[in-house]
Amino acid sequence: MKVSYYINNPSNKIVENDTTRILKNSSALDFHKTLKGYEPTPLISLPGLAKKYGIGSIYLKDESKRFGLNAFKSLGAVYAISRVLKENANIQTFCTATDGNHGRAVAWGATLFGKKSVVYVPFDTTENRMKAIENEGAIVEKINGNYDDACAHAEKMCVKNGWQLVQDMAWENYEKIPADIVAGYMSLFVEMEDSINKLPKAEVDLVFVQAGVGSFAAAAAFYYLNRYGANRPKMVIVEPNEADAVFASFSEGKITTSKGNATTIMAGLNCGTPSSGGWDLLKSGTDVSLKIDDDYARLAMRELFFPIEGDTSIISGESGVAGFAGFTAIIKDEKLKNIREVLGINNKTKVLFISTEGDTDRNVFNEIVRAK
Ligand SMILES: Cc1ncc(COP(=O)(O)O)c(C=O)c1O
Repeated sequence: MKVSYYINNPSNKIVENDTTRILKNSSALDFHKTLKGYEPTPLISLPGLAKKYGIGSIYLKDESKRFGLNAFKSLGAVYAISRVLKENANIQTFCTATDGNHGRAVAWGATLFGKKSVVYVPFDTTENRMKAIENEGAIVEKINGNYDDACAHAEKMCVKNGWQLVQDMAWENYEKIPADIVAGYMSLFVEMEDSINKLPKAEVDLVFVQAGVGSFAAAAAFYYLNRYGANRPKMVIVEPNEADAVFASFSEGKITTSKGNATTIMAGLNCGTPSSGGWDLLKSGTDVSLKIDDDYARLAMRELFFPIEGDTSIISGESGVAGFAGFTAIIKDEKLKNIREVLGINNKTKVLFISTEGDTDRNVFNEIVRAK
């Protein structure tokens, strides 16, 4: 199984820009707490798994329990929609491109505010994922192209029809809404302050986050840099081998598009280019960027679903499991011994994973966990 790494040299400083200014002034969690169905998602300790991998503790934040939507993405979309409507309550239709979870989140958020939504998906989006978005009230259309093409199409259709674009990825002159989305994702980290502090000695040493366009990883980077500065936990970003937007950009030293073939089971991470809004944060707050084979994700899904005796069984989807999958690659692959050293992994290390989705495509999930 293939795994590659890039060791970054982070500055640990938050660069001042439009995105970080918005993040500094946001308190999305106060907004989320006002929503019906809001509840902090569980933070689960997996002592059996930690013992198996020879580390101190494993904590897993289970975002499959978020607002009944099976993924963390609603945190960003609904907050961004609320901000847009604060400025212009007359907007009637929200539009986005998605490889699944963000589109469902936009549809849910729009419906919550009594608005319409139109969602464009790439050519390889499964029927189940499209249905899940439609069930939240959106019109869903498949386009003949990949995720980046879907983003460009959504932008064009918004200009043509006067719809409001709510994209989870920033580019030049489109930074504010993606920054609000990152601010929304930050709630899950702020939420952990309460739950983590309830667990004895549970401050973590190492955090694994998975990346598509890197907005989620940017939320993690900002949160930890802002709270701990250079004393933050070390951070690893994990991507699929063939959709390595962040890894390729680290390797080139600037935002660049992946040269991978964009085939991966990790559908939510199947993005070609990082978001411009988060890039400075990723550079400042990431220690290692990793890209892994799909097989690591498959094995990790089974490992969490069929736990060691005494541990909780976790339903973590193909993208949701990627952080943990990256960790298993680091431990298992002898060629990554130096990464274990860079990250200071030892028998006391406390590691945090965020399972960002549950079985968002139930058929795919069942096929993978039941496979021999
Ligand atoms: C389940 C899941 N995890 C992680 C991500 C990565 O988020 P980002 O695209 O902000 O990097 C996504 C994105 O869609 C996702 O659906």
